Amino acid sequence: MDVIEVIRTKRDKGELSTGHIDWVIDAYTRGEVADEQMSALAMAILLNGMNRREIADWTAAMIRSGERMDWSMLDRPTADKHSTGGVGDKITLPLAPLVAACGAYVPQLSGRGLGHTGGTLDKLESIPGWRASLSNDEMLGVIRSAGAVVCAAGTGLAPADKKLYALRDVTGTVESIPLIASSIMSKKIAEGTGALVLDVKVGSGAFMKDVANARELAATMVALGKDAGVSTVALLTAMDRPLGLAVGNALEVQESIEVLAGGGPADVVELTVRLAREMLRLAGVNGKDPEEALKDGSAMDAWRRMISAQGGDPDALLPTAPESTVVVAPASGVVTRMDAYAVGLAAWRLGAGRARKEDPVSFGAGIMLHARPGDIVRAGQPLMTLYADETSRFERGLEALEGGFEVGPASVEQLPLIIDRIE
Ligand code: URA
Repeated sequence: MDVIEVIRTKRDKGELSTGHIDWVIDAYTRGEVADEQMSALAMAILLNGMNRREIADWTAAMIRSGERMDWSMLDRPTADKHSTGGVGDKITLPLAPLVAACGAYVPQLSGRGLGHTGGTLDKLESIPGWRASLSNDEMLGVIRSAGAVVCAAGTGLAPADKKLYALRDVTGTVESIPLIASSIMSKKIAEGTGALVLDVKVGSGAFMKDVANARELAATMVALGKDAGVSTVALLTAMDRPLGLAVGNALEVQESIEVLAGGGPADVVELTVRLAREMLRLAGVNGKDPEEALKDGSAMDAWRRMISAQGGDPDALLPTAPESTVVVAPASGVVTRMDAYAVGLAAWRLGAGRARKEDPVSFGAGIMLHARPGDIVRAGQPLMTLYADETSRFERGLEALEGGFEVGPASVEQLPLIIDRIE
């Protein structure tokens, strides 16, 4: 097969055959197709799209580039959740042990922060001793002892996606629905979960800025999951403002622990419980109700077992940043806007995220919100506290927040937390 022919076909708005797709993914994984050729093809796909058959073939070829995990030896159904990424989105932390406490197993492969969006592994690594890298046997051991495992994907899982994702990141080809859907679903299908709930974020802090695009991404991913035999549904959820009050690694772990202790911000609790119910229903488990498991301590018990089984100390003090500065309300009135992207970018610049992929993150850096859209505030009242390891970080963090929040006389118009459900 000739790679130029494959690129020209998509460049000229043609349809790639199954043969084209199988060959190009395999040849790229083996290094026979060069990065510059694959980036030309990715750009042609971004500009001209792929139909459902092409996306399904592309996803299947990426799954076949590596191993497919199998949990059929377990005595309970498996269920997982994937979020397309947002600001303050710590939901996996309370959700995985909660679902385990209610009777399903959760084998979750997670990622690190990307740009202004936080990563579950970075958050969990703020717990002293906790390890993200596990062998398949270790994963099985953690699932058996705790009911849930959250860890990094090994190098053998969808290696074609690892290579292609890194290339897309530096060639302006991330924002393509066919490429995002196939990237996410190849990893989730290869992970071997029996049921999957997708949390597709919508708004300034998400990849998908509007509901129409988010709906198309969700429908594409749900179809890919079902075709591969994974029971899949998607929720479209709001990411025009941050989720919860904490944004930053250790700050979000602390907020998650509050949820597991039966407290925490109402939006984090509502979304965690809703996603848990969806996962349990898809997995066919009619055990304990998630709200009950948050109140009676069983979700917290599962969290403690999960953290300990991965080397972490659930009782250890979490890292804190030594420096802080407070942003106050510029006027009295109603908080009409608290923009997710601005808050995420500010937290990233404070050190919660990375500038380059090899950089470390600061565990203590981030932002605690003291007011949310709809709250009434007085001039001078604290709106948020910024945390960083060095005071020199505050200037650029504050710059990111300029125009990112508003206090006014009007009431707020914001997206409902749960916008839609797609199955
Ligand atoms: N997350 C992924 O895993 N892949 C994408 O393409 C975008 C978000």
